[in-house]
Amino acid sequence: MDPLAVIEKFYTPGTKRYQVLVEHSRIVTEKSLEIASNLTHLKPDIEFIKKAAMLHDIGIYLTRAQSIDCNGKEPYICHGFLGKKLLDEQGLPPEYGLVCERHTGAGITKENILSNNLPLPQRDMVPISIEEKIICVADKYHSKNPKYADKKITTPQIIDELGKIHQDHAKRFSMWAEEFNL
Ligand SMILES: [Fe+2]
Repeated sequence: MDPLAVIEKFYTPGTKRYQVLVEHSRIVTEKSLEIASNLTHLKPDIEFIKKAAMLHDIGIYLTRAQSIDCNGKEPYICHGFLGKKLLDEQGLPPEYGLVCERHTGAGITKENILSNNLPLPQRDMVPISIEEKIICVADKYHSKNPKYADKKITTPQIIDELGKIHQDHAKRFSMWAEEFNL
């Protein structure tokens, strides 16, 4: 499976939306591989990471996010599970979709979804496999927003930002950052 071929079914090369998605996905893939290279004792599946990290944000075009040229109907927070739906419909093994669904924030718990009335299916969306955790963490080091895309994001900044959403996010991320030596 060629992840770019999958992306190009839904995004037109040469458009801003395509450029934002592919550039961000490449940066997240590189960061994921860098993290994975220090975790050989946990045996992450490198070939899977290379493809899944490229596809983790494929659902963004279905959501509303003007700054990154996305004009879909759904709230931005839905891009993870919508990406899962899309990859499942493409017949990809379910592991790919799960990376999409579980990468937003530091994952989102069912309890979080219920207590904040989030517009998401009521199920746990927290990374479980080592590959899901690595891609979720790597994603936090780069912003798709062109305003911030060149900025270097540090681990304390990520923890700070996640804490503004919910302390659970900051706690989960801190735990993984420590485990991954970030
Ligand atoms: Fe991302």
